[in-house]
Amino acid sequence: MTRIRIAPSILSADFGRLAEEVAMLEAAGADSIHVDVMDGRFVPNLTFGAKVIETLRRRTSLPLDVHLMVVEPERYFDDFAAAGASGLTIHAEVSPHLQRQLTRIRELGCLAGVALNPSTPLNVVEDVLECLDLLLVMSVNPGFGGQSFISQSIEVDGGINRDTIAECWEAGADTFVAGNAIFSAPDPRAEVGALRAQCARRV
Ligand code: DX5
Ligand code: ZN
Repeated sequence: MTRIRIAPSILSADFGRLAEEVAMLEAAGADSIHVDVMDGRFVPNLTFGAKVIETLRRRTSLPLDVHLMVVEPERYFDDFAAAGASGLTIHAEVSPHLQRQLTRIRELGCLAGVALNPSTPLNVVEDVLECLDLLLVMSVNPGFGGQSFISQSIEVDGGINRDTIAECWEAGADTFVAGNAIFSAPDPRAEVGALRAQCARRV
């Protein structure tokens, strides 16, 4: 049976208490930490870079699932891999040489991922399936029928909460990024298990 993997997004954490937040997520049974890197160009916001990844790496042994919402993502591969990223996920919309870029990510010892915006068709990854360790489907609305043709990891990101997670699980996703749902829950630590339980109920 496919394992249900919960990847809390550090974007919603209290940055002043990053170390405690990470410890809480570990204790809660998170499977990885999702790290949203934004450059103010591919997306309007700016977040963080190698320094924060390095800090997280020192604080946890959980995999660091780094989601690069940046143009020219290859400019950051070496630094982020050296900082301790476990996986680097690049957006298809800004990666014209997907095969070369994914191969480079693997050469650096990281899992190679591709992220798709909601309006990007799935067939853009068809030719690079053998270079791909995970597919990240950006989701404002859940429900992704027909996506289980990829046997590797399928991760969903955006608006995942108790109401939406099971539908994505049933549609074939196995890894769930959740920021707001975890960090604004009355008991963030318990929420990781609660999200997992929503899927387990539907197995
Ligand atoms: C959005 C980011 C997400 C985000 C998830 O651009 O890629 O990872 O933090 O957020 P929630 O779970 O709060 O919708
Ligand atoms: Zn993300």
